[in-house]
Amino acid sequence: MTDPQIVLTERVQQALAHAFGSEHADADPLIRPSQFADFQANVALSLGKRLRRAPREVAEAIKAELSDFPGTVEVSGPGFLNITLDDTWIASEAQRMLADPRLGVGTITPAQTVVVDYSAPNAAKEMHVGHLRTTIVGDSLARLHEHLGNTVIRQNHLGDWGTPFGMLIEHLIDVGEEAAVAQLEAGMGTEFYQAARVKFDGDEEFRQRARSRVTTLQGGDPATMRLWHVFMDATVSFFNKVYELLGVTLTDADIAGESMYNPMLDKTCDDLEASGTAVMSEGALCVFPPGFTGSDDKPLPLIIRKSDGGYGYATTDMAAIRYRVHDLKADRILYVVGNEQTLHFKMVFAAAKQAGWLPDNVSAEHIQIGMMLGKDGRRFRTRSGESVKLMDLLQEAIDRATAAISDRGYDEATRNEIARAVGMGAVKYADLSVSHDSEYILDFDRMLAFTGNTGPYMQYATARIRSIFRKAGIQPADATASIVLAAPAERALGLHLLGFGELIAQVAAGSEPHRLCNFLFQTASLFSTFYEDCPVVKAGVDPETRDHRLALCALTLRVLETGLDLLGVPVPERM
Ligand code: ARG
Repeated sequence: MTDPQIVLTERVQQALAHAFGSEHADADPLIRPSQFADFQANVALSLGKRLRRAPREVAEAIKAELSDFPGTVEVSGPGFLNITLDDTWIASEAQRMLADPRLGVGTITPAQTVVVDYSAPNAAKEMHVGHLRTTIVGDSLARLHEHLGNTVIRQNHLGDWGTPFGMLIEHLIDVGEEAAVAQLEAGMGTEFYQAARVKFDGDEEFRQRARSRVTTLQGGDPATMRLWHVFMDATVSFFNKVYELLGVTLTDADIAGESMYNPMLDKTCDDLEASGTAVMSEGALCVFPPGFTGSDDKPLPLIIRKSDGGYGYATTDMAAIRYRVHDLKADRILYVVGNEQTLHFKMVFAAAKQAGWLPDNVSAEHIQIGMMLGKDGRRFRTRSGESVKLMDLLQEAIDRATAAISDRGYDEATRNEIARAVGMGAVKYADLSVSHDSEYILDFDRMLAFTGNTGPYMQYATARIRSIFRKAGIQPADATASIVLAAPAERALGLHLLGFGELIAQVAAGSEPHRLCNFLFQTASLFSTFYEDCPVVKAGVDPETRDHRLALCALTLRVLETGLDLLGVPVPERM
């Protein structure tokens, strides 16, 4: 690992232990980037207080320990340590990174099994924009963990079971299988659901049929199950179109919908009751995890079997958490789900702990996804107040991207390909670049802008570096000359790039893709300054300098491309 902040932390800790005793070996040296040097360490101030010694004196003692450090150390002010790394050290670390296929990104040993529950649209309704963000953020987390060598198990917890399916299956019979399938495959799930609903509310005969269909479905009647499969297959085939367009890595093998847990629900409830975790309350079987109270200060129930004997969302999640821990052997379970379900997951995790189904060495985490808002700051809707169809939104992004690049002289096929990458990249990057739990305003103009912290800007930055290599007439992989950091802009870029490996580890550990976006945005900005100050392929640049700079370009390109790939943002060759 070449992250300078980590290297420095370790070196200063060694110095502390040597100068003041091994009990200081784990002290945090408080190293931060600084405007006066590369880094500043503030540890002497707090340590001085604790040791009752002048902080400046403590700082001087640390400095003396760092005499062989590849950089300069200065004591300033009340006892700050200003640390500037040698250019040659930065350059040789950058060189090492360039030669490393993993770009300084470590692998986690032993590998963890990480279950990522994401996307999870409901088949009984349309796949709406709310599921877009859980899909995109979840996919990035899955990619990050895979890249770090963890075993990733994707779980698409589809809403594919429950009472609405009685009505949906009856409506499918009424419409005719073929017509219904065509409608569902085309993404008309909402219309399908609404039509069924209208009949259910207004037609007694239909309501009767729908109700008895629920019973036959729950009883596993083969003819009913076949119809359910027809409905689900058509619906999933639409979901897959969305995943494909977005470049999301989910496949049919990752589907683990609510229906999958149906056969486990009786036992889930029985076991919870037998262990005393669940108790009967007002006819329902409930868990009362400690610490949860309602507005009336009464303990809040997690209802796992309703008083009519029916199972609900919480029952399924109790079965799912046990399955994930016990059968999938998860070390970590990430639930990438909207933040309106925060209480639900808190209670499920607490109930699972109470039941002994979630041991301390397994972490279950709700990765809260903030709501997508319209420009007016309200829930994102169409002008007439309906929720926006996901495909329409994606198509609009592609149309706008097409318009934005229409004057660049590409033939139609190339233009369509670039527009698709730019449109989808813009949507995905916009979702990822703000912290996942904050609300986020969907603004096409902003997300498709070619400047600022946007997908198109990041894609443009990589395309620009690729064009430098085309001009130079060599492949990025062949730019293996030594990296020399002579100009300030070269040095700043090189120093920044060294932080990549540690950043990726932190982003995965903390489930924070927006920090990767920030890092890449800084990379692109520093590259821009470098490219303005330091011409690469231009008359007057001597061949040696050109080769040094091409090597730095190659390293930058690989960091950008790897980072964007971990975000799931496509990178067109040209733009
Ligand atoms: N289908 C649910 C919804 O749309 C999300 C499911 C999330 N995962 C889970 N294990 N509950 O709200």
